[in-house]
Amino acid sequence: MSSVVVVGGTSGIGREFARARVERGDEVVLTGRDAARADTVAKEIGARGLALDLSRPRDIAAALADVERVDHLVLAGVSRDENRVSAYDIDAALHLVTLKLVGYTEVVHTLRPRLHDASAIVLFGGQAKERPYPGATTVATVNAGVTGLVRTLAVELAPIRVNAVHPGVVGDSPYWRDKPAQVLEGLRARTPAGQLATMADVVDAVDFLLRNRSVNAIDLSVDGGWLLG
Ligand SMILES: NC(=O)c1ccc[n+]([C@@H]2O[C@H](COP(=O)([O-])OP(=O)(O)OC[C@H]3O[C@@H](n4cnc5c(N)ncnc54)[C@H](OP(=O)(O)O)[C@@H]3O)[C@@H](O)[C@H]2O)c1
Repeated sequence: MSSVVVVGGTSGIGREFARARVERGDEVVLTGRDAARADTVAKEIGARGLALDLSRPRDIAAALADVERVDHLVLAGVSRDENRVSAYDIDAALHLVTLKLVGYTEVVHTLRPRLHDASAIVLFGGQAKERPYPGATTVATVNAGVTGLVRTLAVELAPIRVNAVHPGVVGDSPYWRDKPAQVLEGLRARTPAGQLATMADVVDAVDFLLRNRSVNAIDLSVDGGWLLG
């Protein structure tokens, strides 16, 4: 049995990952911003819920105070930011940059004494870093930042392994599944694998990154070959 922490585990891929690991018999702590929501989701799947706001990094240590030994740490939390450089929203940009880059790093810093040599960490980025779209100014930036972050963390935390997963459009995730059918079909048509990635595909990829003892400091794309479409 492993002890697993999923930051951003109340929804979407993080929730699916948490659920899969509970089903496997692991002890899972999942987090969201709101304690009651985290608790409700955790109870639904058999985990423990905690409140933690990645955009308030100075409060993260206290939020994680009663988490004990951590075998696997998954950082999946995100808030959506439509930001264009031509109409730059500084507050929105600061929010997402803080959440993904400073917040993720502060979680790792806080949990460092509770990790051990065989622990492993996965950070979520995303393929907007490779194929940005108008409005992706901050998203593409932070996803590319995740690449640098996993590399420096892998060096600083060695022998603990640190990897990144970069999903493309995850068609059955809450963010995408209710988009107009023609939008999803257009994206699917440009995907060489002939189908959009699913949450299960990404969960499987995260599991691989956590499990495989020689995979370290990599960016794993899970996008059906989307960049070639
Ligand atoms: N879905 C996709 O197609 C896709 C594509 C590329 C990359 N990704 C990446 O994959 C990861 C998961 O995406 P998703 O679509 O599954 O996410 P999601 O359904 O939108 O869930 C986001 C999670 O982040 C938490 N969260 C939001 N703001 C937070 C904050 N300030 N502090 C801490 N937690 C916060 C949410 O919890 P509460 O609301 O309860 O606080 C929720 O658990 C993200 O990092 C995203 O960038 C997803």
